[in-house]
Amino acid sequence: MQNLRIVVSIPGEADYDVRIGQEVLAGLGEQLRACPATAKASQVLVITDANVERLYLPQAMEALRNAGYEAANLVVPAGEDSKSLDVAGEVWNAMASVGLTRDSVVVALGGGVVGDLAGFTASTFMRGIPVVQAPTTLLSMVDSSVGGKTAVNLEAGKNMVGTFCQPAYVCADISTLNTLDEREWTCGLAEAAKSAVIDSDEFFFWMTDQAQDLFARKPEAVAEVVKRCVVFKAGVVAEDKTESKGVRECLNYGHTLAHAIETLAGYGTFSHGAAVAEGMRFAAYLSERLIGAEPDFVQAQSALLNALGLPYLDWTADPHDILVAMKHDKKARAGKVRFVLMRDVGAWDLVAVDDADVLDALAGYFSQTADERGRA
Ligand code: GLY
Repeated sequence: MQNLRIVVSIPGEADYDVRIGQEVLAGLGEQLRACPATAKASQVLVITDANVERLYLPQAMEALRNAGYEAANLVVPAGEDSKSLDVAGEVWNAMASVGLTRDSVVVALGGGVVGDLAGFTASTFMRGIPVVQAPTTLLSMVDSSVGGKTAVNLEAGKNMVGTFCQPAYVCADISTLNTLDEREWTCGLAEAAKSAVIDSDEFFFWMTDQAQDLFARKPEAVAEVVKRCVVFKAGVVAEDKTESKGVRECLNYGHTLAHAIETLAGYGTFSHGAAVAEGMRFAAYLSERLIGAEPDFVQAQSALLNALGLPYLDWTADPHDILVAMKHDKKARAGKVRFVLMRDVGAWDLVAVDDADVLDALAGYFSQTADERGRA
């Protein structure tokens, strides 16, 4: 299988490459020597977590040293708790003690937590040094490694402190996905399905055709879906880099209910993607009620999610509790909950919905889909 290369062009930023394929991690050092922002660096700090350390850190370190980089590494505990100001402080101190300078490079080797933490600390250390994303989860390949959002969490909420800082390069080695368990795999597929629904009929029907191969992790299908998601996301970010023009918000499709589910069920009870898939189903139901989406669209999306191994969640809650959780979401505005709704595949609107309509729709949705829950 040939490697795929995509050039991400965002106004006001240096272009960067995303390389997707099998075994691309083994060429990381050479790729950095070919990247203008990292070619002349002498020092690289690889930040990873304790799970990825044992699987892929030796390969990354060897690739960097073979290309003549002085490579050090820092391993943080695996899990969302590492996205904290305490751990960020440890990372900054480690950057200083290994002697990173303005022309050093940070490599984020891991999933979304490592990517966000490494991106945040690199973008603030000495007012910003380049970061390279080397995602090792499907979720981070199709979403967080591209687009430049970095953050840590506060007690007040997730991703409360962060920066917009585009990576210098993204190395997406799909062989690293073989070690993901099924929960993590379908988690990434949910975000990919979200991109397909927002993007176009072409992407949506391609994904529907390829659903079995994607579920079975066939390398050609996997590389292609990562490529399609990166191209889609790069296009959205190019239009609205800092989520200030009402475009990047489309990436929040399915996330309004998903964030409430994660809060009410407890983070980690369901994968993020499983919660997003449920949120997409609810958003499609709401779209039919409020903005005239056709039942065919709702059914086609549901069939895609089922085929990707994302059934209805075996979960319900009191609509009032869900509404309160939605209103605590940092993306809520002026008291009303805002949803990304779909008129059809590829046609989205941002809609502020009255509380009474949200409550009514949640009750209707849970009652209409009750038979589907718990079938997985
Ligand atoms: N993950 C959504 C965004 O990057 O805007």
